[in-house]
Amino acid sequence: MAVKLEQQTNLSGDGKLANQGFGKLSDSELEAFNPKIDLERACAFFREFGYVVLSDCLNPQEIEHLNEFYDRTQKQHPEKWGLEGNRKPHHRHQGLIFSQPLLDYPELDPYTQHPSSYPVVSELLGGDECVRFSEFNFRETPENAGLGAMNFHHDAVREDRFERMPYYPCDWLCAIHYLTDVGQGAPAFCVVPASNRFKTLKEAHESLEEHYSEVPIYGAAGTCILYDTAIYHTRYDGDGVQRRRTWHQYYARGGWLRTDTKYIRSPSPVLTDWNLFPKRLALHPDESTRRFFSHWNTAQCEWVASDFDDTLRDAMPRGHQ
Ligand SMILES: [Fe+2]
Repeated sequence: MAVKLEQQTNLSGDGKLANQGFGKLSDSELEAFNPKIDLERACAFFREFGYVVLSDCLNPQEIEHLNEFYDRTQKQHPEKWGLEGNRKPHHRHQGLIFSQPLLDYPELDPYTQHPSSYPVVSELLGGDECVRFSEFNFRETPENAGLGAMNFHHDAVREDRFERMPYYPCDWLCAIHYLTDVGQGAPAFCVVPASNRFKTLKEAHESLEEHYSEVPIYGAAGTCILYDTAIYHTRYDGDGVQRRRTWHQYYARGGWLRTDTKYIRSPSPVLTDWNLFPKRLALHPDESTRRFFSHWNTAQCEWVASDFDDTLRDAMPRGHQ
């Protein structure tokens, strides 16, 4: 997860449980869309509520492959997951994370524009020419992890979102794919629908009134959740026993946006100051792939200038994690 994002995550480092919202859990049935037949309805739902749940986005082979990837890399490279010694300081209380698996594993490249969820992402961000890659990581809340208590928070935002008309397309969009079943008692991803238009969760609670609710998202492995990074969300603790594996991919909006009122929005800023794109993707022979991987931070610029010198990568805080 991005440094900027984690600074906004209010964790209880003293062992006390964090306040996980106002306790107004939704009792409605969760609405999920099959992206292959319900793309337009899924997009309409996202634009109304700031998130959408997509069902059956990964096939059994993909779920097996990604879980095997976890097992293999945790065994072969435990340090990449923070499994040796102390947990990674940037992800304490948050379970395990492999921050940059794309760097050394081209086998993951096909997932960066997955045929199930990517068409929805593309439609929401304004079409293929406007979709940019930001970040790709794997996370695990291990079995018997206990209660970590993450507060409701939003991820990266642009302040102009309160004034601009229209609000959409959003600036960043995150796709979370469940790689294990997330049922009752498992640490579910949870959102407050339509809270992306408010400065605080309290303001959302007061303004949305009876429409305010906290929606834990339970779903089978292969379920995908797309959310506007401005929406309030958290990971519910669950029972502290069950394991959860999730793949997180962030997308940004690219290109200059001109609306009817002549207001111009620039491409979304980079999400982190450390995330790196490997040479095979950043300098890909295909122009559309290069454009997709074109949002470089300054660390990436320096790495490219060095022709992807390993010593530069070695010196970076998460160069091998
Ligand atoms: Fe977050």
